[in-house]
Amino acid sequence: MSKNSKETFYISTPIYYVNDIPHIGHAYTTIIADALARFNRLLGKDVFFLTGTDEHGQKIEKAAAEKGLTPLELANKVVGRIKDLWKALDISNDFFIRTTDPFHEKGVQKIFLNLKAKGDIYKGTYQGWYCVSDENFLAEDVPVEAEGYKTCPDCGKKAVLVSEDCYFFKLSRYQEPLLQFYAQNPEFVRPASRMNEVASFVRQGLRDLSITRTTVKWGIPVPDDPDHTIYVWFDALHNYLTGAGYDWDMERFRKFWPATIHLIGKDILRFHAIFWPAFLMAAQFPLPKTIYGHGWWLRDEAKMSKSRGNVLDPYVILRTFGPDPLRYFLLREIPIGLDGNFSHEGFLHRVNSDLANDLGNLVHRTLTMIQGYFGGLIEDLEEEQAGDKEIRQAFDALKERVADFYENYALSRALEDIWVYVNSVNKYLAENEPWKLAENATRKKRLARILYQTAAAIRGISYLLYPVMPESGRKIWSYLGENKAPEEVPFTSFRFEDLKTGRRVQRTKPLFPRVLLQDFLKEEAPPAVSQKKEEKMDIVTFDEFKKMDLRVGEILKAEKVPGTDKLLKIEVNIGTEKRTMVAGVGDTYSPDELVGKKLVIIINLKPAVIRGIESQAMLLAAEVGGKAIIPFFDREVSAGAKVK
Ligand code: MSP
Repeated sequence: MSKNSKETFYISTPIYYVNDIPHIGHAYTTIIADALARFNRLLGKDVFFLTGTDEHGQKIEKAAAEKGLTPLELANKVVGRIKDLWKALDISNDFFIRTTDPFHEKGVQKIFLNLKAKGDIYKGTYQGWYCVSDENFLAEDVPVEAEGYKTCPDCGKKAVLVSEDCYFFKLSRYQEPLLQFYAQNPEFVRPASRMNEVASFVRQGLRDLSITRTTVKWGIPVPDDPDHTIYVWFDALHNYLTGAGYDWDMERFRKFWPATIHLIGKDILRFHAIFWPAFLMAAQFPLPKTIYGHGWWLRDEAKMSKSRGNVLDPYVILRTFGPDPLRYFLLREIPIGLDGNFSHEGFLHRVNSDLANDLGNLVHRTLTMIQGYFGGLIEDLEEEQAGDKEIRQAFDALKERVADFYENYALSRALEDIWVYVNSVNKYLAENEPWKLAENATRKKRLARILYQTAAAIRGISYLLYPVMPESGRKIWSYLGENKAPEEVPFTSFRFEDLKTGRRVQRTKPLFPRVLLQDFLKEEAPPAVSQKKEEKMDIVTFDEFKKMDLRVGEILKAEKVPGTDKLLKIEVNIGTEKRTMVAGVGDTYSPDELVGKKLVIIINLKPAVIRGIESQAMLLAAEVGGKAIIPFFDREVSAGAKVK
């Protein structure tokens, strides 16, 4: 690193298989990485945050065939879903790599050829068992079951017998160098307990690794020998090089490699802590600093995974809460090395208590008092007194501790500590009883100081929370009248007392809604139940469906139906004429925001009279928690166009 260049921080997630849509477990790895990336950006480091997709191999080939798609069609579909989810979770990755990207394929082929030229790759024949689900060659000592097959010791699935010509990587050559490297770099595998597991595996002896397949077509072809495709893990692990620019953006690659931390789940530790450093040693690249193996989210004590059919869809939470409560819960609930049981009850309990009660109320009450007592102006009219000083000094100490926790990947500890402080600020407010001071004109200065101190603490809390809850951090800062976003203030220059007086705070709604369990669970239609519903559903023939005249309607006017809470009288243009309809959407939308919107309506339904108004059309909407959400068009369409 040259003298002037900034310290770098390169963090990666595993690249996700594209055989199916992502679940809470995948979201977890990515959220941890995002929080760490954001914190390191606050520190002023030059951050490179990489995520992406693992698209080749037998697992994807098989999943695509089952769905009647080509592997690339399946990959394209799933990649779209993954990117949408990362957006919904506020993930700030700097690059998204797909292993089907041509620069990646080229880079892997180049490394393959180099290793072959060096004698680290040689040709032979592989005979043994393979687990398609884990894309893993089973160890020889896994016993053959009575029925004549082997079971994958990791995922419990039936393995298949493989017998084919292949290229081997000389893994055995790296047994001693790996053990030496682990001994010299105890931080390489974290948490520390996992290092022992890895080292003892290597000590038992490493066999050479088959790194090509002839029976799998969906993979990177071996250069000069295209009957062979490269083994998916050899292909995938190299994403950490190519994603950073190896062989196509060498400037970026030189700047960021070696990676600071590869964040992974503990299930893929051996691939990362044994194969990966061996490949890198062979190709003479420096090794990454840390491989961090996090724990699993379990459901009913079993790892959440597609094959077990116990996965949770993150959108169930995202639809009601947005990204921050889910991010907070996943990072707060368990230390990242351990497993945790996920339940919606546990989620709601934590979110209602920590976010809605402790933090949300603190923010809401403080801003309401500043509005009520000072017309919204933050004023600072009196010297700090003992209790005031304590709140400031406790924040300064908290900031240092939180930085240490974040730097050591101890996110749950950071959040725990921040909450101790949140509650001490709540206590400060309760003990100083500003509402009583407000009754006495001579205590106005004292009142101003207490509210200033509380607002400054809230600004500090939301700054420290920003890596975990970026949206809330930004929101709280804008409520406080800050003209910057938290990410624009470097960690070292953030100061409690930099809350400016004379700023005007905004009127706010509560930051985090309080949601009741029964309302929330209504939203979570478990697949089994919805399936049953479908079974009972009346089947409509295509001819019957065709009878429905669905059109694009453009809303011209909307107004409340007097005496009702949620009925709106809406006038729509259907191209050839105007229609009036009455719709129960008034608790989701204000009349004004609907004007000009285009939506789908049925125009040949028998008219109905509602509250004395003839409703001559009906709109389509989804019902979410008792509220109607209308699907609007996201491209230009003209009113009256047919919807089929
Ligand atoms: N494609 C490989 C990784 C290649 S990296 C060079 C892979 N993909 S995966 O989609 O199956 O898993 C990606 C990550 O999600 C892994 O780190 C895995 O541990 C994590 N999780 C999948 N299910 C999980 C839970 N239930 N809980 C926590 N994380 C889990 O493996």
